[in-house]
Amino acid sequence: MITLGIETSCDETALCLLETRDNEYRILGNIVHSQIESHKEFGGVVPMLAKREHIKNLPILYEKILKEAGVSEKMIDRIAVTQGPGLEPALWTGILFAQELSKKISVPVAPMNHMEGHIVASLLLQSGSHKEFQPLKTAKFPALAVLISGGHTEIVKIEKLGSYEVLGSTVDDAIGEAFDKVARMLSLPYPGGPEISKLAETARKENVPKKITLPRPMIHSKDLKFSFSGLKTAVLYALREIGTPTPEQIMDVSREFEDAVTEVLISKTEHALEDYETHTLIIGGGVIANTHIREAFEKLAAKHGILLYLPAAGLSGDNALMIALCGSFPNTIKPSSEGFKASGNLSL
Ligand code: KG4
Ligand code: ZN
Repeated sequence: MITLGIETSCDETALCLLETRDNEYRILGNIVHSQIESHKEFGGVVPMLAKREHIKNLPILYEKILKEAGVSEKMIDRIAVTQGPGLEPALWTGILFAQELSKKISVPVAPMNHMEGHIVASLLLQSGSHKEFQPLKTAKFPALAVLISGGHTEIVKIEKLGSYEVLGSTVDDAIGEAFDKVARMLSLPYPGGPEISKLAETARKENVPKKITLPRPMIHSKDLKFSFSGLKTAVLYALREIGTPTPEQIMDVSREFEDAVTEVLISKTEHALEDYETHTLIIGGGVIANTHIREAFEKLAAKHGILLYLPAAGLSGDNALMIALCGSFPNTIKPSSEGFKASGNLSL
């Protein structure tokens, strides 16, 4: 079965052609077209600009992926498209494209949850096209997922694939959003996560003196809620004291910020591991591209003797492979879901 995956929830226009048989899959084509350059000058994603870009890119990328994969439209068996969560004007572009195409080629279209996509992305072995069928990583259930992206920070209990319960999430900013906002305060380009991460790494390597201390919000609360907006404000106050920061001070703030969010993430995940039986820990979302956070989760999983699944290179950020994979699972096509709408706040 060949599934066409479509992802347009934010600033990536992404398409994927995924072939599955039994529990194996092969990637026939996988394109992620980033709009970062268009949004950079605004310091963040502009929803209407994202919408315009998606509308322009989708037909071009669709022709491209068919051609490169050597697949004709007639070979597509179903379409899976992100319904939410995300920016509604952006989501609508993918949904309308998918619904029109579904009529044109007479195949069903299934609405997918972007966050479920980030969970299953961590079960894939690789992102590049490959000719051989391969299995997914085998997760043992119950599992726990920690989803950390530009729009979300949540801990999710997974009874089995398709059965999710959000145990706790952020009460204000998402972790990636906090990275991006702090980066902006430090006059670093968008997206700020990778920039802060680079500077933090240099600070550690060069032993830049630790002069700034930031809070670890809600680290001692027994629940699984997060809050990053106070941390962002603490950075703002620290920078006000400093005035114009030197390159060393920028590195110091970056390292301390990264340490603070990492400690909170690990501590909350550890609470969850203590409270819920867990055989596999799955981390997903754009922020897990962060090396420091990856290493901290690796240590945590080793300490608790549990299986840890992190996304392979190229699969932590938004992509359509994860959407196609969700769409290829049995029972995802429901006749009642035809004519579905974008849902910016869709939850798991
Ligand atoms: O999952 P994603 O691609 O899009 C959303 O669904 O939000 O996540 C994007 C977020 C951005 O906030 C970006 O700054 C952050 O992931 N990010 C990182 C790193 N790479 C991307 N944050 C910290 N360290 C990184 N290396
Ligand atoms: Zn995402």
